[in-house]
Amino acid sequence: MEDITLTINGKKITCQEGTSILNVAEEYGIKIPTLCHHHDLEPFGACRLCLVEEEKTGRLMASCVAPVAQDMTILTDSPRITKHRRNIVRLMMAEHPESCLVCSKGNRCQLRQIAAQLGVGETDLYPMSNYKRLEQTNPFIIRDLSKCILCGKCIRADHELVVVGAIDYNLRGFRSRPATVHDLPLKDSSCTFCGTCVSMCPTGALASKNTQYVGTPEREGLSICGFCGVGCSLAMGVAGEQVIEVNPSHRQDTVNGATLCVRGHFAHDFLNAGERLIRPMIRKDGDLISASWDEALEVVAGRFLDIKRMSGPQSLALLGSSKCTNEENYLFQKIARVLLGTNNVDNGGYISGQSLLTRIDERTDGGCRVHPFDKLEKAEAIFLIGAEPSQSAPVVSYYLKRAAKKGVPLIVSDPRQTEMARFASIWLSPVPQTDLELINGLAALLCVKKAYDPSFIDRFTEGFGLYRDSLSSLDLERTSRVTGIEMGMLEEVAELLKGKKIAFVVGHGILQQRYALQSMEALLNFSLLTGSLGSEEAGIYFLARENNQMGAWYMGAVPDALPGRQPLHSDTARKDWAQAWQAKIPPGQGLNIVGMIEEAYKGNLKALYIMGENPLRSFPQPELVHKAMKRLDFVVVQDIFSTETVEIADVVLPGAAFCEKIGSFTNMEGRIQSFAPVVSPPGDAKPDWEILGLLAAKMGDPRYYESPERVRREICEFVPIYGDMDGGKGVAWIKEMSQKTLFHADGRGDLISFSPVVSTKDEAPDDAFPFTAIIGSVRYHLGSGTRTSASHHIQDFGLKGEIEISPDDGANLDLHDGDTVRVVSRHGSLVREIRLESGLRAGLIWLPAAFNNNDTRNLIELTELCKADSPGWKTCQVKLEKF
Ligand code: SF4
Ligand code: SF4
Ligand code: SF4
Ligand code: FES
Repeated sequence: MEDITLTINGKKITCQEGTSILNVAEEYGIKIPTLCHHHDLEPFGACRLCLVEEEKTGRLMASCVAPVAQDMTILTDSPRITKHRRNIVRLMMAEHPESCLVCSKGNRCQLRQIAAQLGVGETDLYPMSNYKRLEQTNPFIIRDLSKCILCGKCIRADHELVVVGAIDYNLRGFRSRPATVHDLPLKDSSCTFCGTCVSMCPTGALASKNTQYVGTPEREGLSICGFCGVGCSLAMGVAGEQVIEVNPSHRQDTVNGATLCVRGHFAHDFLNAGERLIRPMIRKDGDLISASWDEALEVVAGRFLDIKRMSGPQSLALLGSSKCTNEENYLFQKIARVLLGTNNVDNGGYISGQSLLTRIDERTDGGCRVHPFDKLEKAEAIFLIGAEPSQSAPVVSYYLKRAAKKGVPLIVSDPRQTEMARFASIWLSPVPQTDLELINGLAALLCVKKAYDPSFIDRFTEGFGLYRDSLSSLDLERTSRVTGIEMGMLEEVAELLKGKKIAFVVGHGILQQRYALQSMEALLNFSLLTGSLGSEEAGIYFLARENNQMGAWYMGAVPDALPGRQPLHSDTARKDWAQAWQAKIPPGQGLNIVGMIEEAYKGNLKALYIMGENPLRSFPQPELVHKAMKRLDFVVVQDIFSTETVEIADVVLPGAAFCEKIGSFTNMEGRIQSFAPVVSPPGDAKPDWEILGLLAAKMGDPRYYESPERVRREICEFVPIYGDMDGGKGVAWIKEMSQKTLFHADGRGDLISFSPVVSTKDEAPDDAFPFTAIIGSVRYHLGSGTRTSASHHIQDFGLKGEIEISPDDGANLDLHDGDTVRVVSRHGSLVREIRLESGLRAGLIWLPAAFNNNDTRNLIELTELCKADSPGWKTCQVKLEKF
């Protein structure tokens, strides 16, 4: 590309051909007013406010769409330009309604700001108000299109960034406005209430709706979203000490850019919910009674040390949180190992299949994960399997949809026709629990076509011959029969993937299913076969459900690894950590979440410390979990909410939510993001790091309690992959250290073995429980829904969590939309309304989690996800009874 030299306001500038005048001016700090421009959107040239003048020709141009040209002489601020800009704003104001004066956008309205800068006050033109009906029939967004200036940002955000297509221009000329199909209210359209258009809108035409009057933000603080593992960067608007509005932050290079999802944008009002815990409590005579911090911590430390003395360290367990910060997870596991002498420490990430990741991680030494999401848009092919990110991690779905729009082949494998399936080049609908067969079958087809990567296989793997031989003996007719996918379709997918490095995006559909471990092994084999590991735009992307699932794992809040994913069974790792902490590290693997419940049930576990988890709502078989926990001698719950689990606690410690404390999270890309408090915790609540520090002091070690910065320094010193973490800079990346990860070009790294090819068992039909229930999620809730259910916005949307049933089954059972059914499994039941859904095959039902206190957990058996014979937590056999 040619270099262009031009002059802007007398300043000589050299830039690249094809750049717009606006971009160049901004790069050199020259401010030009804009209303329809946004860096993440295609230039549009609608408002004409960014006019500049070419001095030699006198030509006026919209600088956002005008490219630079050789020897241009540009003026951005001449009297002529100002006159035109004033006229444009005067015309806009003449069309604006009087409600402008009481608009909730207030002084944040860009039109008002620009009008003020240009000295445009009350309009002197004949008012031409273009009244539109105010739409506020949903709890998230108010549309007052009388205030619309037709900048088109909302439509472009909807089409280009979140790729939903809920809105477009309606009508022509003066009457034209953004509208949904048939101009229906947003709640009756395909709108996902991501709020991206609201954050983009320069005027009060689109605004966030607040169910109670909370005022307008007085200040803004930056934080990281506390919901899923994407780790979106937030700008939180605050009035007093309450977060009352959330938008994407304006930071550069964030994971979410200008987008958010409905949870990030609107569900953070849970922070102000009445269910927040505000003071420590101790159970006395059956009731929880308020106590001072000193009293409460004295009881906790005393009881834990007493039980340790009497029953030994293995009678204690600590269940931590994949929602708490890196620093807090580090402290949590250190207290468990050093002060209490137990490896019985785990975190809520187990529910999302963390234990499986550990097993896969051991084989590749971390080489198959932590990739930036933006690489997805440059992938050669994407295989989305067992994941529905448009519900679970919506910002990831935006990347995938944008990739599909750019022409990246996207294979979606999901028994149900999901939103992502509509963007797929090919949608596969395998029978549930047969992904293992599907993956092996596709690998076999690629082998037959000799469409694998021999150079990668030679340099980085071992055991290929055996693997290829096992694949060649697979009965592909059986694969087709078992998966329910026709041979022709399997061939089509193999053809599409042939010769490509693949980005696999994997979710709960794999990680929680019956053959989870075997399916992951098969997927790893497939990625080795295709040379997809170690490449920037390929590999395996795991969708982490919780915001700090990765961090909790890396910080060692797991029963089988020390910080930095150092395996506990390694003598060297234990020795190193013993030296670092000047303490003995207990050798044996500790109890995971399921083991804790089992041992509590048997009476072997005596005390449980729970930080930021709600097992009575998030674990399968809640009745059994309740019984097990009631058998414990002592239960401590440290949380932000009064949950089901708080009801059985002996001591309750009120914690602070993410934006009320300092810390850092590690997102599913391996991005470590630091943040400072935006507001103070409510009442007497304290940040978890502070509670843990005070507790450690009560247990006899005051060194822990100083500051999160000190904890961070210790992490940086002893966990080299976190060496770049720096609270001041804000963002760092995990430094992968292993030879396998780096895939040295000379092939000197350790070789990764292909694992043996295994198959699913043939199952006889279950006549007593003939339907397969698939537990899924909706974007309005996260996980068990403890936090999202406390959001007024989400509550007021009135979702019922209907069960989806195929029309064929509906006809057979005489069921219609809105009927109520009881779903019964071998472990429990639930009652809900149904909806007939054509994207589901007969014999399957789909049940969204998080509704009705997360009652889908009643149906599932509590078993270890990693065990070879585990039925998994994703599906179960059920029968339906009309209610
Ligand atoms: S609603 Fe807002 S963002 Fe959309 S076109 Fe109108 S002014 Fe622009
Ligand atoms: S809220 Fe999101 S999905 Fe709905 S119209 Fe706006 S950008 Fe589109
Ligand atoms: S995608 Fe996840 S991290 Fe981003 S706003 Fe939504 S819930 Fe928050
Ligand atoms: S910002 Fe250039 S035309 Fe609107």
